[in-house]
Amino acid sequence: MRSLPYFCRGQVVRGFGRGSKELGIPTANFPESVVDNLPADISTGIYYGWARVDNGDIHKMVMSIGWNPYYKNTKKSMETHVIHKFKEDFYGQTLSVAMVGYIRPERGFESLDELIAAIHSDIEEANMKLDLPEHLKLKKNNFFKTAVLTTPNQILNGHRL
Ligand SMILES: Cc1cc2nc3c(=O)[nH]c(=O)nc-3n(C[C@H](O)[C@H](O)[C@H](O)COP(=O)(O)O)c2cc1C
Repeated sequence: MRSLPYFCRGQVVRGFGRGSKELGIPTANFPESVVDNLPADISTGIYYGWARVDNGDIHKMVMSIGWNPYYKNTKKSMETHVIHKFKEDFYGQTLSVAMVGYIRPERGFESLDELIAAIHSDIEEANMKLDLPEHLKLKKNNFFKTAVLTTPNQILNGHRL
């Protein structure tokens, strides 16, 4: 995918509000403006990369882009699971992400347990891949150095930085 790494930023909005609690894997949703601006070659599926909430620390993340076939959503979403235990929800705060690599397409599952197991294996893969030097260096990208609070929903494609 030519557009990777892809950098984008937006204010966290409320999702369908069902998954995180049910799955034990909280996800932060981007607003429609960010989803609609994805380049054409970023296909739906599961990605790994780096994430930062407001001006906090940079953490590993996994992201699901698409219609969540297990739940048969009608609206395309971008849901980020930041691999870090936060004390509180961060709705309304600015989430900056660098999508670095692709893991797999989205798929349907026979049961919720299978979906959860798949996400845990995505997290494991992200954890390993992001320790590679070529991925670690992206944490130092200028994208994460700029102050984030002035322009919510700003779209920044890595290749223009
Ligand atoms: C790493 C990751 C992988 C996911 N993979 C799938 C998938 O293969 N199929 C699917 O239907 N949903 C997938 N999801 C989406 C979950 O179903 C979704 O996060 C959950 O429904 C929560 O949505 P909600 O908080 O917006 O309700 C994935 C989510 C994450 C974070």
